[in-house]
Amino acid sequence: MKTNPGGALAPNEVVGRDRLIEKLWSILERQSLVLTAERRMGKTSIVKKMAAEPQRGMRVFFRDLEALRTPLEFVDCVYQDVQADLSGRGRAMNRVRLFMDQVGGFELKGLKLPKQAAPHWKTILTKTMEDLAEHQEGLLIFCWDEIPMMLDNLKRDQDEAAAMEVLDTLRSLRQMVPTVRMVFTGSIGLHHVITRLKEKGYANAPTNDMFTEDVSPLAFEDACDLARGLLVGEGIEIVEGEALVGAIARSVDCFPYYIHHVVDALRWTTQARTVEQVDEIVSTHLCDDANRWDMAHYRERIDTYYADVEQMLALGILDELAATDNPLSQRELLDRLSVQGTGQNPELVRKVLTLLGRDHYVEKQKDGSYRFKFSLIQHYWRMSRGL
Ligand SMILES: Nc1ncnc2c1ncn2[C@@H]1O[C@H](COP(=O)(O)OP(=O)(O)OP(=O)(O)O)[C@@H](O)[C@H]1O
Ligand SMILES: [Mg+2]
Repeated sequence: MKTNPGGALAPNEVVGRDRLIEKLWSILERQSLVLTAERRMGKTSIVKKMAAEPQRGMRVFFRDLEALRTPLEFVDCVYQDVQADLSGRGRAMNRVRLFMDQVGGFELKGLKLPKQAAPHWKTILTKTMEDLAEHQEGLLIFCWDEIPMMLDNLKRDQDEAAAMEVLDTLRSLRQMVPTVRMVFTGSIGLHHVITRLKEKGYANAPTNDMFTEDVSPLAFEDACDLARGLLVGEGIEIVEGEALVGAIARSVDCFPYYIHHVVDALRWTTQARTVEQVDEIVSTHLCDDANRWDMAHYRERIDTYYADVEQMLALGILDELAATDNPLSQRELLDRLSVQGTGQNPELVRKVLTLLGRDHYVEKQKDGSYRFKFSLIQHYWRMSRGL
């Protein structure tokens, strides 16, 4: 196996996700799914593997929605996927065609939906799903990667109402067509998009019928398998044997993306490939001005997605948690934030703690105290902010 940090993986290069994928299939038997995780954890790789290796009797469609900017473009993607699937099996999309004939004024020429279809996107989407359901007994699974990005684009290029309508239409489709399942993933949290819509009066809970599953880093054994596989694949002599393999996995909290990066750096280093060298590589990249591991994202995300009043507080909380090795209770955090001059509003502190939890910065312990969820990100935070 070759190093490929951030690139597209072939299904057989996706290490250590078999049990999770088994669980996701079983969830999909009963309901749709929101797959969340810290960035670069491997969501896209998991969903693509599922689409490439579907369960028997299921139809699985994968689409990256990042570049879409209108509801019609989105419906067009779904329409094209379904059309390709059905025409490949000699089936026609009768409902869609009949609807087009009825409303008149435009006809389907070629693969793309014409612009004049824009006002009818909801009906076309529903009829597309119904046409597919008619010809398929098993489940119809639509994996939509980067759907939060598409909603953000809709909000920006059209208006908030367009994004709300898409979310509501998808929810009602899940109720109307019982064999349809949707998988939502993306590199930005859907909760950020929905929070912004709520500020504009959106009152619905558009994913409360879906199951939310969080993707964790790899299990230690799997992280070692990945590190070993990459070292061997790159022809790197493993002088310190399993100690080096374990050090790579541990040094990056078993994040597969950073394992690829560490092995890639080991490949090019002129130093001996030792455990110390692994630590050196990690430390160097955590405070790398060129931002090759994209660590700056953890700091920039606060400015992009947190409200003005939340930003200082989020930074204050993360600074306090980064600077200590022990978890801090809410009381301790409030005291420390008061000293900083940011902790006057305990309700806001609680809200920001919840947001930081949803963005995978912090984790609430069983006793109610908080700590950084990943020591790698804590390490970055400490170094980058000079704590
Ligand atoms: N299971 C895995 N086995 C091997 N490598 C992996 C695995 N999962 C992720 N990677 C590595 O991490 C990189 C990022 O994976 P992927 O794009 O699937 O993450 P993501 O969670 O979709 O990221 P983003 O949040 O940016 O959309 C891959 O290109 C690969 O280098
Ligand atoms: Mg992705």
